[in-house]
Amino acid sequence: MQSHAGPYRVDFAGDPLPPFDELPGGAHLVVDEQVGRLHAAALSPVLDSFPTLRIGATEAAKSLEQFPDYVRVLVSGGIRRGDVIVAVGGGVVQDIACFLAATLMRGLEWWFVPTTLLAQADSCIGSKSSINVGDLKNLLGTFTPPARVHVWAGYLETLEERELHSGVGEMLKVHAIEAPGSFDRIAHDYDLLFEDAGVMQRYVRASLEIKRRIVEEDEFDRGPRNVMNYGHSFGHAIESATRFAIPHGIAVTIGMDMANFVSMLLGPGTAETYERMRTTLAANAAGYGDVAIEAGTLVEAIGKDKKNVGSELRLVLPDESGRIGIVRRPNDEAFSAACDEYLREARPR
Ligand SMILES: NC(=O)c1ccc[n+]([C@@H]2O[C@H](COP(=O)([O-])OP(=O)(O)OC[C@H]3O[C@@H](n4cnc5c(N)ncnc54)[C@H](O)[C@@H]3O)[C@@H](O)[C@H]2O)c1
Ligand SMILES: [Zn+2]
Repeated sequence: MQSHAGPYRVDFAGDPLPPFDELPGGAHLVVDEQVGRLHAAALSPVLDSFPTLRIGATEAAKSLEQFPDYVRVLVSGGIRRGDVIVAVGGGVVQDIACFLAATLMRGLEWWFVPTTLLAQADSCIGSKSSINVGDLKNLLGTFTPPARVHVWAGYLETLEERELHSGVGEMLKVHAIEAPGSFDRIAHDYDLLFEDAGVMQRYVRASLEIKRRIVEEDEFDRGPRNVMNYGHSFGHAIESATRFAIPHGIAVTIGMDMANFVSMLLGPGTAETYERMRTTLAANAAGYGDVAIEAGTLVEAIGKDKKNVGSELRLVLPDESGRIGIVRRPNDEAFSAACDEYLREARPR
């Protein structure tokens, strides 16, 4: 994987942890406490031998307000220049460790061991850290790639069903972005993803491969990478309007369906581009129909999306051929009405 900071490796490994004897400095671990518990047999010997910061993975945990505590733990563990932060967890632990590595002592090396499907198939590459400030989601951030990513499929065995669906949401997203035909392929194998670990692994790698091509072309998100935001303007607004009652990748799944619906009503999409993806997206987002989403709150949150330009919305929508691209449009009555109609009549149940 290429980045501004040089190339970095993604290893698909047979062991839960990377070889610590290859670390260029002392290790400080930042670990999802639930992963530490569920995989204690494999992890405890290491966690007990190195200074370890344990984190309960919630949205509140990646809020700026928590960082003084994290810094204190790392400093009392003796961290210094040349040491390496090894992060073991999902996207929350990734964002925290990445932000710490970017800023502590003006920058430390970090390694990442992703333990959720979302992190293994999507967030582990791409360099970004995104930190919340109070209830402002992902407002602070850096581009700080890890020096090494270590993917062990065994972590997925302890994931809850909802976290699997959340990861699959991002996998559906990158495939939809690559091409309508790529989405059709993963949609065809959708049930198998949950039944056959081999099929899941194949699509995890395929998702990373697609993301790698897009990110290498535009690491700093100035152009082509913007399409990775498909499902995210709506998805982030859903997360904020529901106070994070819906996991990220499932909110993104609903967000893609909503984007397709809005594009069908307001253009440039068609009934066909909406229907093509609908069954798979509705299956992946099933079970959250009772979580209240108020249309006004949602539209207000979309209006605040950091990707907008002035008062104009910058949406990522399918065109008439199903290709995903950027569409600029006013945040007007018609847009609000389309969102309202989706929530009343078309939301997956
Ligand atoms: N920086 C990026 O590029 C990027 C990209 C996408 C998402 N994100 C962020 O990532 C976060 C979501 O991350 P996520 O979906 O990976 O989940 P997460 O880190 O929030 O973890 C979800 C839940 O799964 C648990 N968990 C983690 N690994 C487990 C395992 N192996 N077995 C059992 N339970 C396990 C956690 O304790 C937590 O309860 C969001 O805050 C999102 O904004 C960041
Ligand atoms: Zn995402």
